[in-house]
Amino acid sequence: MVHYGGFNTRAVHSGELRDSRFGNVVTPIFETTTFLHPNDDNAAYIDATRGSPYLYTRWGNPTIQALEEKYSALENSNHALAFSSGMGAITSTVLSLTSSGSRILSLNELYGQAHGFFSEELPRYQIRTDFVPIDEINSLNFKLKDYAAVYVESITNPTMKVTDLVELSKFCNENNTPLVVDATFASPYNQKPLDLGCSVVIHSGTKYLSGHSDVTLGMVAASSAELHNRILRMRTTLGPTMDPLQSYLALRGIKTLGLRMEKHNRVALEVAKFLSQHKKVTGTFYPGLPDSKYHNIAKKVLTGFGGMLSFEVTGGLDGAKRLLKHIKIASVAASLGGVDSLVSLPLETSHANIQRAERLKMGINDGLVRFSCGIEDPEDLILDIESALAFV
Ligand SMILES: Cc1ncc(COP(=O)(O)O)c(C=O)c1O
Repeated sequence: MVHYGGFNTRAVHSGELRDSRFGNVVTPIFETTTFLHPNDDNAAYIDATRGSPYLYTRWGNPTIQALEEKYSALENSNHALAFSSGMGAITSTVLSLTSSGSRILSLNELYGQAHGFFSEELPRYQIRTDFVPIDEINSLNFKLKDYAAVYVESITNPTMKVTDLVELSKFCNENNTPLVVDATFASPYNQKPLDLGCSVVIHSGTKYLSGHSDVTLGMVAASSAELHNRILRMRTTLGPTMDPLQSYLALRGIKTLGLRMEKHNRVALEVAKFLSQHKKVTGTFYPGLPDSKYHNIAKKVLTGFGGMLSFEVTGGLDGAKRLLKHIKIASVAASLGGVDSLVSLPLETSHANIQRAERLKMGINDGLVRFSCGIEDPEDLILDIESALAFV
């Protein structure tokens, strides 16, 4: 598949399903579960998942495939699949790469629900995961044992540590081990993991891709047809295919991804700089800050540092709760990556299902605050945070 143009041109035009019989500019919503079968019209559109006319929406649907094609253009990939959630994408991908007796290498610092899948669900099928701290992954301080896959997050949620995908993918490719990366925090605007040598990239498209906190979505792009087909088979079997109506909303959201990410990148850097100089803030975690431990890796693997950051304030959990109580612009809510700023305590949201000792090992202290910078004016966000910090 040849993709034309730069990132924003692709975000607007790639995948759009235009039919000269109607002259439509925007892709229609094919709200249909089933299609005429057999369809003997020689001009019938082809379902990419089957290589023949559309049959049934759990396999493929024109609106969903428009989304898949647009997203694959952004990842410089030939293959992509849309799921009904990020977790649908993660579970289908990992199950497609493993079988009973498989072993996976992963990070300690994973998103809570993904961590639960690896640590609690997969062992029931004799699939075991070795969790290793990200710094050991980055220094390749592990012995590759016949792993069925290596699974990482490119920027960890919510600790904002950055995986060195350049070195790790080199290592995995030399050992013929698929490297799967959840690049949700980076977005395809700031990072294209397949170009860095990874085998599969996953997004919770619920976040930056859709961008407006109104769509639940997972996306997967694979580096080869073989991997793509395995994941497709698992999606068709488990059933977490995206639906046409939500695909339409995601198609619309992605058109402005580049514009939004430029603003998210700028806003987060300004907020991070402000926080890092405030006397009531005891730690600011943002890879775009020059004194971040991960700044050099981030410069190598990212073209922008993203809209997410986390920080700790004096008074620990009590201080953090006071802060959240007085913040006015950002909504106190889980999730991230939308145009409106959101703030949360990972203790109560993304990592609520993780035992405290395990959570502390991940570097998530009780009082850690996660902030998803939206596209508001940074001076307003800073003024608001500054006012709330007075109550800490
Ligand atoms: C990094 C990361 N990956 C995956 C997911 C799961 O995505 P979804 O909520 O769309 O299932 C999340 C959700 O917060 C996340 O933060």
